[in-house]
Amino acid sequence: MRKVQGMEVLGLLFLVMIPVFVRTGKAETNTFLINCGTNSSVNVDDRRWVGDLAPDSNLTVSSGIVATNSTFNGDSIYAPLYRTARFFTNSLNYTFKVARESYFLRLHFYPLSFQDYDVNQSSFSVVANGLKLVSNFKVPSEISHSSSYLQSSGTNSSSFVLIKEYFFDVDTDVFVIEFIPAKGSFGFVSAIEIVPVVDNVFVDSVNKVGGGANSYLNLSKRGIETMYRLNVGGSEIKSSDDELWRTWGVDSGYMLTADAGSETTNSSTITFTSANETSVAPLLVYETARTMSNAQVLEKRFNMSWKFEVDPDFDYLIRLHFCELDVDKANQRIFRIYINNQTAADRFDVFSKAGGKNTPYHQDYFDVLSPKINTLWIQLGPDTAGGASVTDAFLNGLEIFKLSRNGNLARIEIHNPEGNKMSMSQILLAGIGAALFMLIFCFCKRRRNKPGDTKNNSPDGGHCFFMGLLLIVLLIARDHREVRIQLGLWPLLELVVGSH
Ligand SMILES: *[C@@H]1O[C@H](CO)[C@@H](O)[C@H](O)[C@H]1NC(C)=O
Ligand SMILES: *[C@@H]1O[C@H](CO)[C@@H](O)[C@H](O)[C@H]1NC(C)=O
Ligand SMILES: *[C@@H]1O[C@H](CO)[C@@H](O)[C@H](O)[C@H]1NC(C)=O
Ligand SMILES: *[C@@H]1O[C@H](CO)[C@@H](O)[C@H](O)[C@H]1NC(C)=O
Ligand SMILES: *[C@@H]1O[C@H](CO)[C@@H](O)[C@H](O)[C@H]1NC(C)=O
Ligand SMILES: *[C@@H]1O[C@H](CO)[C@@H](O)[C@H](O)[C@H]1NC(C)=O
Ligand SMILES: *[C@@H]1O[C@H](CO)[C@@H](O)[C@H](O)[C@H]1NC(C)=O
Ligand SMILES: *[C@@H]1O[C@H](CO)[C@@H](O)[C@H](O)[C@H]1NC(C)=O
Ligand SMILES: *[C@@H]1O[C@H](CO)[C@@H](O)[C@H](O)[C@H]1NC(C)=O
Ligand SMILES: *[C@@H]1O[C@H](CO)[C@@H](O)[C@H](O)[C@H]1NC(C)=O
Ligand SMILES: *[C@@H]1O[C@H](CO)[C@@H](O)[C@H](O)[C@H]1NC(C)=O
Repeated sequence: MRKVQGMEVLGLLFLVMIPVFVRTGKAETNTFLINCGTNSSVNVDDRRWVGDLAPDSNLTVSSGIVATNSTFNGDSIYAPLYRTARFFTNSLNYTFKVARESYFLRLHFYPLSFQDYDVNQSSFSVVANGLKLVSNFKVPSEISHSSSYLQSSGTNSSSFVLIKEYFFDVDTDVFVIEFIPAKGSFGFVSAIEIVPVVDNVFVDSVNKVGGGANSYLNLSKRGIETMYRLNVGGSEIKSSDDELWRTWGVDSGYMLTADAGSETTNSSTITFTSANETSVAPLLVYETARTMSNAQVLEKRFNMSWKFEVDPDFDYLIRLHFCELDVDKANQRIFRIYINNQTAADRFDVFSKAGGKNTPYHQDYFDVLSPKINTLWIQLGPDTAGGASVTDAFLNGLEIFKLSRNGNLARIEIHNPEGNKMSMSQILLAGIGAALFMLIFCFCKRRRNKPGDTKNNSPDGGHCFFMGLLLIVLLIARDHREVRIQLGLWPLLELVVGSH
């Protein structure tokens, strides 16, 4: 029980998907639930996960080390999946024979202690059918980063496991997931989940934030990573309550003012306009909402604002889920939607868009993030120009997807791909440079000074030393963003060195 909290957080972060049942029809043969590093199959959350040592004929695993830690006693429900993992010091392929259709892929990484492998030293990449998913991936630091982000925003939680979710259109007969350790390092994977998606969860033509014509996103040729999936104004929705085994987290930890909107729930029965809409979101998402009825918010004419950390220099698909629960006429409730401070929609009338009250509706937006922006703001506010009687904005659910660029979904490390530690050789180089500079500088000084005028030599020596020191600092700072920030050199040096 005590670890369930960790799992909930996880949901907030990267979306969980725990197990997957064998479903009916077409999906049946194409669902894979793999428990890595074991011979035995386990039932977790009523679903059967097959050990990768005893794979069926549709899965082959190329290599790897089987890791078990029987002392692991974490989360009571999911523990069976995370007691074993497959470690690798060389490239490892999981090759699945699949039908050509769309899939959710979920990779579970639980940092397991095993023999002499210090999981904090692991670093690896993952490539799926040629698309790079992660690169220089360090699970423990990813986990501690997301925990501290949530904690800093007031949420009382930490996560213990990382679950990454991707959506693919597979147009070959095999799906190859390639795990590649960094040079001299190793990697691991705890569980793999492949869930077929029969309905059209995504459409290609999407409104671009800031106006203009719809963008054609070419989604079938791109990979999609789920960054956030939230049930706004409600509680966590567990994977077992979602047809495609998605987990929907709670939104309050991402809000600028956590109580900026009050939570509302449905008063009458909500109905989908067509049966296949459950593949977009379960009904539970539409039964709760956050509404701008907080007096503080209304008086100050504030927005309800959510802020998310994302990877810069990627395209994002933002999906907002709505269901009008109160108003029963068109043009009665009108509000505005902003994404990253730009207007995504004005005069937004959910009743009209959905075609009625208690009717689920979702709206997608497309935004391109520049290399300098690593946050995504979603804001809803009143639209007073429309003359509607109600201008309180509301939101039921929210999803943020990152779209691949040039076959890459991995975060691009602009400043220092090797991590943030200064390497010995860089310090050495800086030192040599500084020493050279000192030599030349002192030499010039000496030549300018009249011979015998020894009095001036000692202050010049101090000067030289100071200049040398400054040079060392500048050389190091040039390549290290953290040092620049710590020294307060950030604004100055950012101008000088640009986005080095
Ligand atoms: C896994 O099971 C198979 C068949 O039951 C057996 O041959 C194999 O030795 C087992 N492997 C391990 C590592 O236990
Ligand atoms: C492997 O896949 C084929 C077709 O996709 C299916 O007919 C077969 O039952 C699968 N085998 C197993 C062991 O699941
Ligand atoms: C894994 O699969 C990729 C792509 O099919 C291939 O290039 C690579 O050689 C394979 N690696 C191993 C270790 O089998
Ligand atoms: C299992 O994990 C514990 C604690 O993380 C560690 O001390 C122990 O060495 C691990 N066991 C094995 C067999 O690696
Ligand atoms: C790994 O790093 C985390 C902090 O990032 C630390 O709490 C943990 O003890 C480390 N584990 C090992 C085995 O060094
Ligand atoms: C944080 O979590 C701990 C343990 O679950 C609990 O005892 C504590 O009351 C929580 N604090 C807040 C502020 O929610
Ligand atoms: C549901 O079915 C309708 C009619 O066949 C289709 O137009 C729509 O795109 C489908 N929606 C999803 C999410 O698959
Ligand atoms: C989609 O592809 C078309 C042509 O293939 C291209 O012009 C367009 O820019 C692409 N759209 C995006 C968003 O990349
Ligand atoms: C929404 O309404 C339905 C039917 O009246 C009810 O079963 C469900 O519990 C309600 N949901 C919430 C979150 O109040
Ligand atoms: C949006 O505005 C907020 C303050 O209102 C600011 O902190 C943030 O950086 C802006 N975001 C972008 C992408 O301009
Ligand atoms: C709401 O957010 C938008 C975009 O950041 C901003 O332009 C607008 O001034 C905000 N409205 C209020 C009332 O703060």
